[in-house]
Amino acid sequence: MDVTAPGTGSGTVDPHGLAAGSRPPDTHHPLDLMDLFADDFVRDPYPWLDTLRAQAPVHHDPRTGLWLVSRHRDIRQVLLDPAAFHPDNAQHAATPLPMAVLRVLAKAGFQLPPALANNGTDSHPGLRRVVSGFFNARRVTAAIPVIERIAEDLLDDARARLDADGEYDLFTSFAQVLPCRVLMQLLGIDGIDGIDPATLIRWSDASLELFWGRPTLERQLELAELVGEFHQWLTRTVNSGTAPTDSFIAALARHRLPDGTPLDTATAVSACFFVFIAGQSTTGQLIATVLRQALAEPGLWPRVTHEAALAEGWVEEVLRREPPVTTWRRVTARPVDLAGVTLPAGAQLLLMLMGSGSDPDVFTEPEQMCPSRSNIRHHLAFGVGRHRCPGASLARTEAAVALRVAARTLPQVRPLAEEGEPPMLGLLSFRAPARVAVAGPAPGAPAAAAASQ
Ligand code: HEM
Repeated sequence: MDVTAPGTGSGTVDPHGLAAGSRPPDTHHPLDLMDLFADDFVRDPYPWLDTLRAQAPVHHDPRTGLWLVSRHRDIRQVLLDPAAFHPDNAQHAATPLPMAVLRVLAKAGFQLPPALANNGTDSHPGLRRVVSGFFNARRVTAAIPVIERIAEDLLDDARARLDADGEYDLFTSFAQVLPCRVLMQLLGIDGIDGIDPATLIRWSDASLELFWGRPTLERQLELAELVGEFHQWLTRTVNSGTAPTDSFIAALARHRLPDGTPLDTATAVSACFFVFIAGQSTTGQLIATVLRQALAEPGLWPRVTHEAALAEGWVEEVLRREPPVTTWRRVTARPVDLAGVTLPAGAQLLLMLMGSGSDPDVFTEPEQMCPSRSNIRHHLAFGVGRHRCPGASLARTEAAVALRVAARTLPQVRPLAEEGEPPMLGLLSFRAPARVAVAGPAPGAPAAAAASQ
């Protein structure tokens, strides 16, 4: 099978002044040093992503064994060709799970048969319609007052705590909680079996870290316990038949597969598992980045409260330049040529969604945040094609509401200067600040953001 050497797809010149394919074997390419989980990559992936796009748009990463696809047009080609590129590996563990961890999961009955993101079979369109029915534009518009009320409720508490403590973390107390509470309402699971947002957030975060992170064995074992609990709770809830009739779980129970049979429990649980995670963690991460970037941008914070569509434009630019879902996976169904590289059947691809939002072939001055950009929605933060995120409208709306309500409720707030770098979540496919610390106005001075108008 013809597999072109890693990094030779573009035929461009490498920093040593050699055509990529003609590097002597003993010289090192800068990409050899790239570690997708390392702190330097997580904190500032842009130089790496630029190098990938320019020099090795289809690059074999020896550390993960994945083929990194980084140009906007190549990613679109992959996502729009489901016959050649299958989604089956979308939820595979990025770090192999050792036997001891698999045992913990097996004891909890954990399995994820194809349902949504990892489903390339003919059961996918119908299952996807069930999801879309809960998050279509009409339902999202109707939910705006609910989103605003929950945001105001959480930020009232923020105001009180800012007054008392002088500082506040907008991630753990607001960005992370808002989407979870909204999702519970929209899915009709609020109050089921006494489940609370904090538990769902803990389970969801554990699932992301176990399947998309690089945890130690000890940590994998802890995470597997939590993921097992989550799966068991979902299985009990699906099997009990007590979910309200207008809930997502009841809709799955009514669903029929193309052959007319009902969904088996494992597939219904698999669909819930994905939606419960995708619907809250990613949106919380998006809100965290939106807030952090808005607080850092001179003059923006006060403007979003009264300039029509500015919050929406800001959210879109964050989705383009710094999206929470940084990558997504596909696997080749057969040998395929992609950007001049011949990939074998079974090649595991990592689509660099984040880097594609800074592709200069599509976005002029990609490093500039430009909320009035003419092709502002051409980014691939939500994918494209038959698996395109059905929660996009909800995520966009929640993030814009969160920004507007935060700026209105906390007009004087400013980023808190912290010692050292603030913590970041840095998983294979998810990236966001893990803290957005803010302080009240400096004594006797207007807030920094407001002052710089
Ligand atoms: C900022 C927030 C979000 C981002 C960046 C995001 C991104 C994505 C991406 C990249 C995909 C894969 C697309 C593909 O394979 O082509 C996806 C799929 C999906 N997302 Fe989202 N998502 C977000 C929020 C949500 C929300 C709020 C929900 C549900 C309420 C949701 C539910 C789903 C589902 C069910 C799929 C699988 C769809 C399918 O396979 O047909 N996501 N999302």
